[in-house]
Amino acid sequence: MPTNTFSLTNNQTGESYKYNILEGTRGPSVLDIRTFFADTGMFTYDPGFTATAACESTITFIDGKKGELRYRGIAIEDLAKHHTYLETCYLLLNKQLPNKEELQNFDLEIRHRAYLHKGLQKLFDAFPDNAHPMATLSAAVTALASFYNEHLDIENEDEYLEMAHRIIAKMPTIAAFSYRHSLGIPFIEPNIDLSFTKNFLTMMRAYPGGKMHLYANGHEEIKDVEVRALDTIFTLHADHEQNASTTVVRGVASTGAHPYMAISSGIAALWGRAHGGANESVIAQLEYIASVDKVEAFIEKAKDPNDDFRLMGFGHRVYKNFDPRASILKSLQDELHDALNLDTELMAIARKIEEIALNDEYFISRKLYPNIDFYTGIILTALQIPKSMFTPIFVIGRTVGWITQWIEFKKDKTSKIARPRQLYRGK
Ligand code: ACO
Repeated sequence: MPTNTFSLTNNQTGESYKYNILEGTRGPSVLDIRTFFADTGMFTYDPGFTATAACESTITFIDGKKGELRYRGIAIEDLAKHHTYLETCYLLLNKQLPNKEELQNFDLEIRHRAYLHKGLQKLFDAFPDNAHPMATLSAAVTALASFYNEHLDIENEDEYLEMAHRIIAKMPTIAAFSYRHSLGIPFIEPNIDLSFTKNFLTMMRAYPGGKMHLYANGHEEIKDVEVRALDTIFTLHADHEQNASTTVVRGVASTGAHPYMAISSGIAALWGRAHGGANESVIAQLEYIASVDKVEAFIEKAKDPNDDFRLMGFGHRVYKNFDPRASILKSLQDELHDALNLDTELMAIARKIEEIALNDEYFISRKLYPNIDFYTGIILTALQIPKSMFTPIFVIGRTVGWITQWIEFKKDKTSKIARPRQLYRGK
């Protein structure tokens, strides 16, 4: 029970009000203002929710000042180094890492559920060849809700988990099919013999029935090092507490809509370049800059208050020291430098931007550091993945986070429909 309180006095009326201070297990204390409107007749004002906690959660913890990120209490560095993405999914959903048998069963179930209903596959034909895979992905997840209608009134743990496993398993297939449709080439069905991440790479790149890959780049088969790099990227994206797209997922959940509709809405929110779309924009920007000697001019452009231009992949609402996911990916980049042939002009431009920005007063004083998206693009490019698939890859990783947050919302007896107020300034 709360022991500390916070008093507020209205200077106009002289009336005082007391509010409980809630303590979490980690992070700042939280002022409980649920009765504020009833007590005072006033609303609070906080556009962008910069100081508002909208829920209780036990899933993910971020300390933006320290650059700390934990899933279910376990540091992201530990998970990225010692565990796979599927182990991380199990951890998020079940609050603990799996033992060997639990992992085998979970892995097998995810492999079995990766297939798409034949009817759903026809949907892709409705989209133009040049459709962005994020648009197709969001629409296909909406369509998935129509195939699994029995989940509208989910009552128990098993049903929650079945629905979660299904969407985690099918997302890579939907993403790969969206991509192959955009190229006008035949789909590659999931292969039950392959791991989650290798299966996705295969569905993206393989020729039907063969071992050669679309983006073979001198080698015939997918390398283990590529699978490991992509698996780490999935793990780093698995959850990020109450970010913009997760807030959208919880908002849709609050109306009682189908969980896959909530996820489809999360995909839409992620697409924007202030959020998950930044990874595609980072590479587009590096390509636009085109050579190392132009970097300084673009840094000056980013600093100009009269110019809207921003350095993509820099800055974060929560991390004001460093983004721990970015640090892990930077180390991974260094580690994979030779194996993935990262010695490219894009890499040289990225390094130069990093070097200048990290020592520049404008970026230092505003606490603007490279975020996760600054590094994912370079690694994904080295994996022969085209830019348009960067944000869908973010979606694949984040699906477990969205669905875990959705389950937490549904189980929370204090949860309410999301319905903020406004400061009306009209006529
Ligand atoms: N380049 C240049 N200046 C920047 C940048 C940038 N990337 N980011 C912020 N600034 C400046 C702003 O102009 C502002 O300057 P001012 O105080 O002189 O007006 C100051 O830094 C604060 O910026 P805000 O927009 O208020 O910061 P906020 O926390 O609201 O935004 C955000 C964070 C959206 C990530 C922002 O830094 C940005 O647009 N970055 C580029 C896009 C990006 O990389 N997004 C990915 C985020 S990570 C993720 O979603 C997975």
